[in-house]
Amino acid sequence: MGSAVTSNANISSDMVIELCNLRKRFGALEVLKGVNLTAKKGEVISLIGSSGSGKSTMLRCANLLEHADSGDIIIEGEAVSWQEGADGRKPSDHKQVTSIRTNLAMVFQQFNLWSHMSILQNVTEAPISVLGRDKKEVEAEAMGWLDKVGIADKADAFPSQLSGGQQQRAAIARALAMQPRALLFDEPTSALDPELEQEVVKVIKQLAAEGRTMILVTHDMNLARDVSDRVVFLHQGVIEEENTPQALFDTPRSERLKQFLSATVPA
Ligand SMILES: Nc1ncnc2c1ncn2[C@@H]1O[C@H](COP(=O)(O)OP(=O)(O)O)[C@@H](O)[C@H]1O
Ligand SMILES: [Mg+2]
Repeated sequence: MGSAVTSNANISSDMVIELCNLRKRFGALEVLKGVNLTAKKGEVISLIGSSGSGKSTMLRCANLLEHADSGDIIIEGEAVSWQEGADGRKPSDHKQVTSIRTNLAMVFQQFNLWSHMSILQNVTEAPISVLGRDKKEVEAEAMGWLDKVGIADKADAFPSQLSGGQQQRAAIARALAMQPRALLFDEPTSALDPELEQEVVKVIKQLAAEGRTMILVTHDMNLARDVSDRVVFLHQGVIEEENTPQALFDTPRSERLKQFLSATVPA
């Protein structure tokens, strides 16, 4: 894609994430068939689609937890550099991988907190060990992040002592503590009971209102409608449709999107 090369050189100052023509297969299964996605500074992009359509793979490719077979990943104007190996390509620059993982902080469906660490330690671990920052300073900041997500009183508790909603808010505080350029959410409310879902939704809405750059994979169409600047519908590894939330939900064009929405949106 010519535009990727151009933006890499100059016009990308407000582009945070550019995924260009990404392809990814697992064995015989082609999961991403040439997908494009961009997020400018402050944009909230929701990614929707049926289970198995490739949403998680797309997010995981963006922060290099998976290695896309081809296509470009450009983060704040810097393209990921690759090296070809016997079993496909891999990022060639470890420093770049660490920097991208730091700058695109991920929040997972299953929280992925470290069970043997307190909530405070969960939040301070990466800033101290990955970024090499001062422990006292990081701890003071971490209390601020925990306060922001409403669980400062849980700092010394362990994950198993928290509800799912509190654990997910701890995971969000952990992501924020890396001071990332963007947040990637992979179905952050899917593992939660409905009454706990809303406390996480509230935090996500607050982050969106603050102008944070976010890509949000969600099954919650109300959330996607409320927070997104753009909604992207993925179907079998292809972006079928992409639009403002209002246009995409109120006047879907493709038959597949119409079908998906009629199956998921509550009457
Ligand atoms: N590591 C993997 N190895 C093999 N197949 C995988 C792997 N990860 C995902 N897949 C397959 O890729 C497809 C897309 O998965 P995923 O990206 O998780 O979809 P979604 O998040 O939209 O539900 C599914 O068919 C899934 O089984
Ligand atoms: Mg998924």
